[in-house]
Amino acid sequence: MKSNSSSFLFVENISKSFKGLAAINNVSFQAEKGEIIGIIGPNGAGKTTLFQIISGFIQPDHGKVYFEGKAISNNKPYEISLLGIARTFQIVKPLRGLSVLENVMIGPLAHSFSFSQSEDQALSILRLLELRDKKDILAENLTLPEKKRLEVARALATSPKLLLLDEVMAGLRPTEVDRMIAILQQINQQTEVTILMIEHAMRAVMACCERLIVLHHGEKIAEDTPKAITKHPDVIRSYLGQELC
Ligand SMILES: Nc1ncnc2c1ncn2[C@@H]1O[C@H](COP(=O)(O)OP(=O)(O)OP(=O)(O)O)[C@@H](O)[C@H]1O
Ligand SMILES: [Mg+2]
Repeated sequence: MKSNSSSFLFVENISKSFKGLAAINNVSFQAEKGEIIGIIGPNGAGKTTLFQIISGFIQPDHGKVYFEGKAISNNKPYEISLLGIARTFQIVKPLRGLSVLENVMIGPLAHSFSFSQSEDQALSILRLLELRDKKDILAENLTLPEKKRLEVARALATSPKLLLLDEVMAGLRPTEVDRMIAILQQINQQTEVTILMIEHAMRAVMACCERLIVLHHGEKIAEDTPKAITKHPDVIRSYLGQELC
């Protein structure tokens, strides 16, 4: 693995505090093209804050994020999106009043695709996310599992190189979790998109990820294969003990 800012993604010593409380404390890691990496940890561990920083919604107090060798931590969210990083939101945010298809077309249109290109792109992504037959429904009328898949579809529609998924399995029943796992694996194989996924569903990260990063109180307490992580004493103490109960 490359060891520095020439990696596909390199997060270097990132820290961020809110009102004096550290949400992320000196976190570093890297990701290479095509990997699926899971980010786990208890509530309030700093997982979403890390995504907020990578996607440019907030700036770190210290440290830098490099994407394809370029420092991006001072860039605006739309600039980062144009560079090829897309994210989903933990609280699903479909655009109300627009159909499922229109929701997915917004991304490609914003990236200067033509209308017909955007429609073709959106339709093929809706097929991948098993939402093709819902294309004309108003997005707010979808069920929760469908809204979660729409959130992934909207992020994918910009043809990202890096996809940041924030708890896209939360609130789903086991059969829907399995469906999402299969869809994400297919997306990764077909598009070679690199995926960072925040998840509490251990079954999902065990099935999808080659590597897991564990955050606790804003610090990275472990990084290893899923199998090794389940045996890591600090991780069992701070997180898995409660998750596996
Ligand atoms: N905009 C903000 N203003 C103030 N505090 C914040 C802000 N965003 C996050 N925090 C705080 O930073 C800490 C980390 O929050 P974060 O949302 O990153 O956790 P998380 O790991 O995503 O948790 P969860 O699993 O519950 O989603 C928490 O203590 C949270 O209250
Ligand atoms: Mg979160």
